[in-house]
Amino acid sequence: MATELNKFSKTLTQEVTNPAAQAMLYGIGLTEEDLQKPQIGIASTGYEGNTCNMHLNGLAVYVKQGIQANKDMIGLIFNTIGVSDGMTNGNDGMRYSLPSRDIIADSIETVVAAQWYDGVIAVVGCDKNMPGAIMAMARLDRPAIMVYGGTIRSGHYKGQKLDIVSAFEALGKKFANNISDEDFKGVIQNSIPGQGACGGMYTANTMASSIEAMGLSLPFSSSWPATHPGKQEECKKIGVAMKRLLELDLKPRDIITKKSLENALTVVMALGGSTNAALHYLAIARAADVPLTLDDIQAISDRTPFIADLKPSGKYYMEDLLEIGGVPAIMKYLYAEGLIHGDCLTVTGKTLAEDLAEAPDLNFDTQKIVFPLSQPIKSSGHIQVMYGNLAPTGSVAKITGKEGLQFDGTAKICEHETEIITALSKGEILPGQVVVIRNAGPKGGPGMSEMLKPTSAVMGAGLGDKIALITDGRFSGGTHGFVVGHITPEAFDGGPIALVKDGDRITIDANTRQLTLHISDEEMAIRKAAWVKPEPRFTKGMLGRYIRTVKSASEGCVTDEA
Ligand code: FES
Repeated sequence: MATELNKFSKTLTQEVTNPAAQAMLYGIGLTEEDLQKPQIGIASTGYEGNTCNMHLNGLAVYVKQGIQANKDMIGLIFNTIGVSDGMTNGNDGMRYSLPSRDIIADSIETVVAAQWYDGVIAVVGCDKNMPGAIMAMARLDRPAIMVYGGTIRSGHYKGQKLDIVSAFEALGKKFANNISDEDFKGVIQNSIPGQGACGGMYTANTMASSIEAMGLSLPFSSSWPATHPGKQEECKKIGVAMKRLLELDLKPRDIITKKSLENALTVVMALGGSTNAALHYLAIARAADVPLTLDDIQAISDRTPFIADLKPSGKYYMEDLLEIGGVPAIMKYLYAEGLIHGDCLTVTGKTLAEDLAEAPDLNFDTQKIVFPLSQPIKSSGHIQVMYGNLAPTGSVAKITGKEGLQFDGTAKICEHETEIITALSKGEILPGQVVVIRNAGPKGGPGMSEMLKPTSAVMGAGLGDKIALITDGRFSGGTHGFVVGHITPEAFDGGPIALVKDGDRITIDANTRQLTLHISDEEMAIRKAAWVKPEPRFTKGMLGRYIRTVKSASEGCVTDEA
């Protein structure tokens, strides 16, 4: 399918008679012969200040070597931005996290379309890097492959395995006086041992695994840890794969289809992945012009058992998956059981079924990470789309079943996520409360902040199974507990979440998928009439523009639609 952008995708030297452009290419060191070769843009979200991204520029160099190994393509590295969710969680920097996804999409689109590259490879690491890159690929529709930077290895302290969530949970333990100063420091200093994305089935590993399932990265891309030699090998093999895509003229919109999106979301459900996947796949589908709704996501959740004992709610880390055959082994099992469409095309140039024929088998006698479908952790997916009078146009909950299927409690309002941290430190968060964190939506936040700090602090304080948390913001992939996010309409737009008062009764029912504020319609109307729309927190700059352009969470928070 032609897009508005790919009609320009002609090799510079074949179609363009721009002597200045050719002169510049000679100026960067290309030869006359080089000018006849396809040019592949290599987008890296590498930067030094974050363990998820610190090694990506190095991987981009390996990718360039892979592209140029046979001297038949030119690789040209460029950079785009990244925002670390780990570093911005719990502070105002988090406002920039979700918007960074769309900046990444816009910037990759801009460079590849402006520079007339014939193909693109995105070397990406942290949560928003991946959906941003895939959105750009879908818009551009030129041969494209995503290379994941890889998961981090686990940290260690006093015989315990640690990751980023351990650091946040240590804070909750500190509030509850459950940890010594020395051990608090020990956890903080040892949680993050080096390069790689956060190590559980949090958002980065969720997106990497499911994008591999969708067919836009090579087999095992999501399974090689950042420091594993297999990751460098993947980068070097990329040239052969890109050459094949160019020969076949196999483009992202041939790969991103309703079926492949279903494959991606099936893997999210089976692995217990992040609720952020719902947001990102809505956005990816819109970028590729494939219809996908929250109800489609619920249908996949309904038919997909949750079978992987991975963090945040389980025991194991992403690095452990490689030892049991990685994501390909799990997909092979799901395919054999009829949960995966095998006829989708992938960046190998083959069908998914052909790729999976070469994958290892899961051995249920020797491994304990993935359970058989007949003995799941939960018989349906943990991501539940909820409606009700508190979320008329939808919300997204993470219900693993470990915290029960229903919660009935009284509202405790927090107008900002920092308020729950203060309340926790004062002992004001009590069992039986439904904590309502509002004005945290895409417009109201702005930027739809993640609530990892509050939820981890709640867990650390021992309240994880005693309270529930609902918000028009979102949750980190590292969040666990009884949580409902992405509530729409958001408070800034006058959604019912804006009308809740302290002490109101709220029921969260995962069986009926209803989020109910127990007040009458008349009372709701009175409160609505008295509601005053807040002033936007920003009117200028990137966040001011974001408030004016962003769609609701139920529409993927995209920013490029009228
Ligand atoms: Fe980058 Fe978690 S902060 S993957």
